[in-house]
Amino acid sequence: MVAKTMEELVSLCKRRGFIFPSNDIYGGVKGLYDYGPMGVELKNNLKQSWWKSMVYERDDIEGLDASILTSPDVLKHSGHEDTFTDPLVDCRSCKSRCKAENLENNSCPNCKSKDLTDPRPFNLMFKTNIGPVEDGSSFAYLRPETCQQIFTNFKNVLDSTNRTLPFGVAQIGKVFRNEIIARQFVFRMREFEQMEMQFFVRPGTQQQWYEKWKKNRMNWHISLGLGKENYRFHDHIKVAHYADAACDIEYNFPFGFKEIEGIHSRTDYDLSQHEKHSGKKLQYFDTELNKSYIPYVVETSIGLDRMFLAVLSNSLVEEELDNNSSRTVLKIPSILSPYKVAILPLVKKDGLSEIATDLYNKLKIEFNIIYDEKDAVGRRYRRQDAIGTPLCITVDHQTLDDNTITIRNRDTMEQKRISIDSVSKEIMKEVNLKNWLKKNS
Ligand code: GAP
Repeated sequence: MVAKTMEELVSLCKRRGFIFPSNDIYGGVKGLYDYGPMGVELKNNLKQSWWKSMVYERDDIEGLDASILTSPDVLKHSGHEDTFTDPLVDCRSCKSRCKAENLENNSCPNCKSKDLTDPRPFNLMFKTNIGPVEDGSSFAYLRPETCQQIFTNFKNVLDSTNRTLPFGVAQIGKVFRNEIIARQFVFRMREFEQMEMQFFVRPGTQQQWYEKWKKNRMNWHISLGLGKENYRFHDHIKVAHYADAACDIEYNFPFGFKEIEGIHSRTDYDLSQHEKHSGKKLQYFDTELNKSYIPYVVETSIGLDRMFLAVLSNSLVEEELDNNSSRTVLKIPSILSPYKVAILPLVKKDGLSEIATDLYNKLKIEFNIIYDEKDAVGRRYRRQDAIGTPLCITVDHQTLDDNTITIRNRDTMEQKRISIDSVSKEIMKEVNLKNWLKKNS
C-alpha cells in the first residue's frame, strides 16, 4: 500500500469532485477553492461530527451563526486593525513579495537579489463597503476569525438562555485572510472555514479548563480514526498579547507536522476591550460569589479545510492487487465518507435494475447513498473506491431466486451474501457513529 503525493491528491480531488480551483474557467484565483459534490458531503460530515461533540453531546455549549461582515469597531478594539499584520518586503529585481521572516540571508528567496525594500506592515483583513455610498465611512471587514462575534454576542446568549458559568458558544463559518502566500492546497487559503468555541469561565479556573479542553479536543481527533500517532501538541512558549497559555494540535500532513487546531486561554482580554469601547456591560453575576465579573475565556479553534486535507491525505492510497493490477482507494473513516453505500445492479436487464432502484429508494431515506448502473461492475467498484464509499451492494441474478444481495467492503474487498431484508442493519453496523466508535476504540 503506497500513500499518494500531494500532486496526486490535488489531481484526484478535481477528477472525483472533491475540490476544484475556484474561478477555474477564468484561470483560477490563488488561495480560493470550491468544494465539489463529494467535497461538500465530506465537509458537512466533518462539521456534523464537530457540532455533535461540541454542542449536542454536552450540556454546557450553545450554538451561534453570526454575520461575516463585521463593523470596524469590533476589529479595531479586538486589536486586529493594529496587530493582524505581517511585515512584508518587496524585491525590486523580480518584483516578488515575501514575509520579512522568510528572507534568506537578507536576500530574496525567489531570485536571491539583495535589492529589497524595508519591511512594511501588511494588514491581512479584507475590506468592503456597506450601503450605496463608498466614502470610506461605511466600510466593513470580512471577519478574519469567527470568535469576535461570539464575544460581542456574549450577553445576548447569556440573557436569552439563562446560562450559568461555565458555558460555551460554538460557531462554524467562513473567515477571510489576505494571506501573502497561499499555499499547500487547502492548508493555507484566503477564504476558509473555522469551527470555533469560546468557553466562558470564572477567573482563576482558566488553567484547569484549558487542560480539560486540550484533552477533550485531542480525544475528538483520535476518535475520527486517522491514527493517534499522527497528532501531537505544540505548546507555545511565547503567547499572543491576549493569552496566558496556548498550544496547537499538530497533524502529520504529507509536508510534515503542522497546526490543525489552536487552543488558547484568552483571559478576559476580548470581553474587557469590547466592554470598555462599546460602553455595554459584558459581565456575569456569580450568585455563589455574590459579585459581577468579566469571565475568562478558553478557546478551541480548528480549521475545517485543514481537517479536510488531513482526512484525504490520510486516506488516499494505491493498493497492489493479487492479479498484478492496482487500485486507487480512499480509505476515509466510514462515518465521514460522502456516500455510505452504492447500489449496483449487475446488469440493467432481467429486472435487476428495478429491484436495485426499489432498494435504492428505500435506503436513501436513511443513508446518503448512490445508484450506479453504468459500465462493468468492476469499474463501478473502482469508482466507488476512489471516492471512499465504504459499502457496495450488488443485485444479481441470484437475487431473483432467493432475495439476497452481495455486500462488498471497500477496505477488504470481501463480499458476502445477505438477505435484502437485513441490508439496513448491515449498513448501520458500518456507518452508525456508536457502532463505529465501538469498533475503533
Ligand atoms: N480565533 C483564533 C484563531 O483564529 P488561528 O490560529 O489564527 O486562531 C485557527 O486559526 C485555525 O484556523 C488554525 O489552527 C488553522 O487550522 C486554521 N487556519 C488559519 N489560517 C488558515 C488559512 N489561511 N487557511 C486555512 N486554514 C487556516
